[in-house]
Amino acid sequence: MKILVSGGCGYIGSHVCIRLAEAGHEPVVVDNLCNSKEAVLSRIKAVCGVRPRFYRGDVRDAVFLGNVFSGEKFDAVIHFAGLKAVGESVRSPLDYYDNNVIGSLRLLEAMCKAGVRRFVFSSSATVYGDAAPVPYVESFPVSASNPYGWTKIMVERMLADLALSDPAWSVMILRYFNPIGAHPSGLMGEDPQGVPSNLMPFIAQVAVRRREKLSVFGGDYPTRDGTGVRDYIHVLDLADGHIAALDYASSHPGCHTFNLGTGRGASVLELLTAFSRACGRELPYEIVDRRPGDLAAYWADPAKAKKELGWSAGYTISDMAAHAWKWQTANPDGYPDE
Ligand code: NAD
Ligand code: UFG
Repeated sequence: MKILVSGGCGYIGSHVCIRLAEAGHEPVVVDNLCNSKEAVLSRIKAVCGVRPRFYRGDVRDAVFLGNVFSGEKFDAVIHFAGLKAVGESVRSPLDYYDNNVIGSLRLLEAMCKAGVRRFVFSSSATVYGDAAPVPYVESFPVSASNPYGWTKIMVERMLADLALSDPAWSVMILRYFNPIGAHPSGLMGEDPQGVPSNLMPFIAQVAVRRREKLSVFGGDYPTRDGTGVRDYIHVLDLADGHIAALDYASSHPGCHTFNLGTGRGASVLELLTAFSRACGRELPYEIVDRRPGDLAAYWADPAKAKKELGWSAGYTISDMAAHAWKWQTANPDGYPDE
């Protein structure tokens, strides 16, 4: 299949391009490079031998999208393009509604015009809100505590309504838990611009001495060591989940929602210990106040994805740390400018 990958230069999208090419599909990337670099395309080629065709532009730009869709016939779209920083979404909500909601709307409109009706959407565990019991199950009601989370809920709603309106649509809503790790080659990984707000890239930058120490946000949560617990999933396991979702969409019209997680939680200190082992050095840290808005602990119930998609995560926390370390040591400053 020929697959349009919006946001395909980003962290998750670039790893999905590899898995698509390895599965015999043809990824075509649309990205405005607001949080990524074009150099990732050469790395994709170095890993899997295929450099995806690239259209630089914005998914909110209907004219740009019209040109992309009139030039090629796509079988499906996987939509990663969007903004993803929770704190920033609280400070700049309109940017998030514009990019994530309007961007998705424009993309769906362009698909309607072009007659493409298979869609895979990057949603998030954040849609379970702050009151759901763990593990999270897809049938739970949704809620959010920040604009980023609301944008995901709004797009999920839009997709459910669209699929209801026309049985030709196959829509896969994938709720990611915490993707970390990198390609085992060390050629590709996470390259956040500025100070990382997520745990794993921050630890990786402490390991290469770009940052002095990790601030652990809270040591008094009701968890086994007092630090926050999350369901960390290797980015390549997550990527494989997209291939399984595309296959499923081929024979299942309608709108389907799946958790992509491991079903296991790890604490901040457990992740730090795994990374210390991978890099062979005790990494410095300090316990500081809790980060406002953080939950103590959550993880996925991944049973539905296993049963219906035949997918489950295989990599361990040690693998995730080892691969992230390999990427960070080989590329201490991330991807080069091209
Ligand atoms: P990323 O920032 O690395 O990738 C997003 C890509 O989209 C970037 O290359 C960026 O340049 C591009 N982009 C952003 N807005 C665009 C626009 N308007 N037009 C065209 N391109 C645009 O992020 P990621 O971690 O790869 O996340 C991908 C998706 O998965 C996002 O939708 C995110 O919300 C979702 N998600 C991520 C996580 C996570 O922890 N990484 C968790 C849950 C869900
Ligand atoms: N943490 C620290 N220090 C840091 C960064 C994070 O102690 O410097 C802790 C957090 O308090 C939390 C854990 O590490 O306990 C994970 O935090 P992240 O910021 O890496 O991830 P979150 O779980 O907060 O959120 C991430 C994405 C969201 C997504 C969610 C889905 O940032 O976009 O996963 O589960 F919605």
